[in-house]
Amino acid sequence: MQPLRRTNDRWYPSFHVAAPGGWINDPNGLCFFDGRFHAFFQHHPYSPAWGPMHWGHASSADLLEWREEPIALAPGEPGSDDADGIWSGSAVVHDGTLYAFYTGNRWVNGVDDKDGKFQTQMLATSTDGVHFEKHGAVVPPVNADARDPKVFSHDGRWYMTIGAEVDGRGHVLLYTSEDLYNWFEAGSLFVDPDPNVFMVECPDFFFLDGKWVLIYGPMVRTPIRSGYSLRNGHNVGYVVGSWEPDAQFVPETDFRLLDWGHHFYATQSFAAPNNRRLAFGWMGEFAHPLASREDSWSGQLSLPRELSLSDALTLHCAPAPEIAGLFGPAETHDATLQAGETTTLPPFEEAWLRVTPDLEQPVPLQTNTCEQVVLHLIRDDVPSAHIVFDTLAERIHLVLARGNGAGSGYRSMPWTPGDALGIYLDRGSIELFTADATETLSSLDFLGEGPRTVEIESVAGPVGVNVEVRPLKRG
Ligand code: FRU
Repeated sequence: MQPLRRTNDRWYPSFHVAAPGGWINDPNGLCFFDGRFHAFFQHHPYSPAWGPMHWGHASSADLLEWREEPIALAPGEPGSDDADGIWSGSAVVHDGTLYAFYTGNRWVNGVDDKDGKFQTQMLATSTDGVHFEKHGAVVPPVNADARDPKVFSHDGRWYMTIGAEVDGRGHVLLYTSEDLYNWFEAGSLFVDPDPNVFMVECPDFFFLDGKWVLIYGPMVRTPIRSGYSLRNGHNVGYVVGSWEPDAQFVPETDFRLLDWGHHFYATQSFAAPNNRRLAFGWMGEFAHPLASREDSWSGQLSLPRELSLSDALTLHCAPAPEIAGLFGPAETHDATLQAGETTTLPPFEEAWLRVTPDLEQPVPLQTNTCEQVVLHLIRDDVPSAHIVFDTLAERIHLVLARGNGAGSGYRSMPWTPGDALGIYLDRGSIELFTADATETLSSLDFLGEGPRTVEIESVAGPVGVNVEVRPLKRG
């Protein structure tokens, strides 16, 4: 069977990591090895739908230009521990070797999930970052759901977290090793305090700016309304706290969403050179088929984000500084709009925008009746999405327009009125960053084709708007 290749580029990312065709989900095995960044990912090369998982692979010297690499890991022989899929996992680099840890999936009935599954944590190594040798199981199945090994070193020891269901509750289990081959149980690191959470996916535990951060995807029995938060089928967030080896993690914050968008999950971070912690998320969807499947592909990774922790223990997730190098010089547009008035930017394709509404213009804030500034993103004369600066709710909303093949409804993140918003527009995605990057919102956008025009509208009162557009550099 030949791997699929996409049939149309209308929404295929120009500056995000994606497979050449077929399906992808979680970023896996992120690392810096032998002078290059490596992004592996959950991949089904033969269909744009989830199926027997492989690890796809791309690499880059600079986080800007990504090279397509051959598929790194494929399912094993029938009956073997990874016969039905190479599921998510991580990588570490030690003594010139890349160690990749993943979950081997095997269906009990050999066909599907109906009779349960065996999930085994497994190891493969590589000395060139491209070709892998499998070494088999390192942690036997704990129960049906126990997966996504994330390995890190601390104080001269190796540790592995896995997400698991234990007695109906979502746990992060800890293992430890001296040599990366022999692993020993070290208890439960964390239990999600919410009894509605029955399973934890893709835990990622790391030390950052004096605290321990645990990122994970809580899987719930029953979706429960909680305002703007947890709107998706799969949601990822984090808690921050303290940890000493041989003890449980002690959270000092509540669970907080990592990103407010329609499509952001399975975030994985890694230690990059110069003591930086970078992370990628998966932009995709399990619950509803995305329109890009018509073009034989589904899913992309988010922009790489550089993480730091504020004194208030909130994560800042700014685009990695390298990303600025993708874009050309800024074209600046200033406008003063009266209530109901609009202005339209010259058309562009992929771009990075910085938009700053000035609520002190043309009248002082105290007397300004402006309620919203709305950016209508338009292609083929039809709006695909609206970015709403809501000065009363003090939030930014991203509304996917009717007929958008990426989804429906709106997502919303906190915003301080007057602050600048960073907007990254790829062919089929929108990523929003508040000025201090404590809030981000990432969604796909599959409606219309070709260059975008952006119409800016002021609602219910006047406003000054400053827009910087930096188009993507070509070739
Ligand atoms: C999260 C996840 C992981 C699993 C992988 C399978 O998106 O469900 O828990 O390892 O995807 O593709």
